[in-house]
Amino acid sequence: MTIPQPPPLPRIIGHRGAMGHAPENTLASIDKAAALGCRWVEFDVKLTADGEIVLMHDDTLDRTTDGSGPVAGTTLDALRRLDAGRWFSADFTGERVPTLDEAMAALARRGMGANVEIKPCKGREAETGAAVARALAEHGMNAPQPPFVSSFSATALAAARDVAPALPRAFLTVVYLPGWAAQLEQLGCACFHVLDRLINERRVRNIREAGFRPLAFTVDHGARAGQLLSWGVESIITNYPDRMPNG
Ligand code: G3P
Ligand code: MG
Repeated sequence: MTIPQPPPLPRIIGHRGAMGHAPENTLASIDKAAALGCRWVEFDVKLTADGEIVLMHDDTLDRTTDGSGPVAGTTLDALRRLDAGRWFSADFTGERVPTLDEAMAALARRGMGANVEIKPCKGREAETGAAVARALAEHGMNAPQPPFVSSFSATALAAARDVAPALPRAFLTVVYLPGWAAQLEQLGCACFHVLDRLINERRVRNIREAGFRPLAFTVDHGARAGQLLSWGVESIITNYPDRMPNG
């Protein structure tokens, strides 16, 4: 089967919205990314205790909300009562943990695209990958910019592929292993998102020559972003879209 492709991506993608400026993975962070000119954002999703998909990076609530304990042990109802903004700044008091549907609706209103990173809690990899793919296939594919998923978890990506084969996928890595091309091929991933410090010009060329699309995370220095783009990296995922080169 041919590998499903995301649409052509912009040079700059906001990380967890624009997490340098607003509480990560919230609607306020998406707003901020939009205000800074982003046309696409990356955000992380995982499952609540009752199987709902929410925007959250960590497995626990403690760092980014005023709650505590595991996300996987918290229902959506309970999660909704938490403040997800005040930890960042008093200006964001009252910000809530959004659901995937709410984030997709906010993006659709602005004509923006989503790189939905599947960030499963341990032991829920396949369940999370399948749930996210099902949700995006049902609602997101009609978005003005069709979304794509990414993950560090091969299990989650395989489950997403099995549920929604046409949903474009990306493989994330923080270790550059020799078998990356076979892994991407096997998972049907069009894009390879690589940790910034692992990237050099030769690797960008290798990825492109193998027929895959290289993206870089997380890059906050404009000069480095410019270098990566000049080598042929398609998009830079950044906490600070305002520090990136223009154009
Ligand atoms: O998707 C790129 C990047 O977000 C992966 O790392 O930990 O920030 O989700 P993390
Ligand atoms: Mg992420």
